[in-house]
Amino acid sequence: MMKEQIDKIKKTAKEEIENVQTIKDLNDLKVKYLGKKGELTLILRQMGNLSSEERPIIGSLVNEVRDTIENRIKEKEEELEQEKIKEKMAKEKIDITIPSKKTVLGSCHPITQIINEVEDIFLGMGYEIADGPEVETCFYNFDQLNAPEDHPSRDLQDTFYITDKVILRTQTSPVQARVMENKKPPIKIICPGTVYRSDTIDATHSPVFHQVEGLVVDKNISMSDLKGTLEMFAKKCLGENTKIRFRPHHFPFTEPSAEVDVSCFVCGGKGCRVCKDEGWIELLGCGMVHPNVLKNCNIDPKEYSGFAFGFGVERIAMAKFGIDDLRLLYENDVRFLKQF
Ligand code: DAH
Repeated sequence: MMKEQIDKIKKTAKEEIENVQTIKDLNDLKVKYLGKKGELTLILRQMGNLSSEERPIIGSLVNEVRDTIENRIKEKEEELEQEKIKEKMAKEKIDITIPSKKTVLGSCHPITQIINEVEDIFLGMGYEIADGPEVETCFYNFDQLNAPEDHPSRDLQDTFYITDKVILRTQTSPVQARVMENKKPPIKIICPGTVYRSDTIDATHSPVFHQVEGLVVDKNISMSDLKGTLEMFAKKCLGENTKIRFRPHHFPFTEPSAEVDVSCFVCGGKGCRVCKDEGWIELLGCGMVHPNVLKNCNIDPKEYSGFAFGFGVERIAMAKFGIDDLRLLYENDVRFLKQF
């Protein structure tokens, strides 16, 4: 009787375990068959009613069935775990053949492009890149550069004053003085940077714009070094056929001073819209560093000489990219910027 009961338990347990779908249901079966109130335990409780011959036989049968059920449950448990992992892996599978979402890549602003290009050209000629503050003292922006008290660029109309003695720099030239004060010749630097002037905005003027300053100080530096350097720069930046010409000019911090024009790289000098029919485009200011400036920075003008130059980045960007309104460069309209 009892044996049949046990066999039945074994049979239904096996079936139920086989059909179970979840770990939770399996745990319920574990309790149902093996738990303290489980079916096999109940049988063991009834063993008292058995004869002493029957008892060990039934006892070992119960143990055997118990082991079998336990093993089946363990096997099933592993099976379910594996299935769960497989399911999870299938769900999380990454299809690396699906095309990715389009990422929008920005591009370098035309002004940054020109600055990068200019830096490359001068680094190639052995220059270092220098830097200086945009909020500058009048001392460096004017006095150290031999710009006298009555120089027009010191006027309130031309310059953003922060205090009587502190301004937004009107030019990158103060970096010349800062470098010379801190470094013994030989000096060979360029300094790209932002400058500020109290100008009204129009197609060719902006109160904020960019310049690149250049300075070379060493023994025996002459005007021909300046000419050779600028010619090299113009050819590399604007094209191998570019010619340059010097026109006398005045800057307080150079003597002699000159303005440099380049042959129009659009028409080659014949005259066109870009050069306003002149064949030449004004490029920069330059000259031999004034002895007073060298002296101000504790460099002996009898031993050393130097040249300096400065140009506007926007002007080059506009000419090179054929942009006819400076304001476009600052509006940050992606439709415009995308073109360069
Ligand atoms: N700082 C001048 C300007 O803003 C440009 C310039 C002219 C710079 C002559 C120089 C130079 O270094 O030698 O107009």
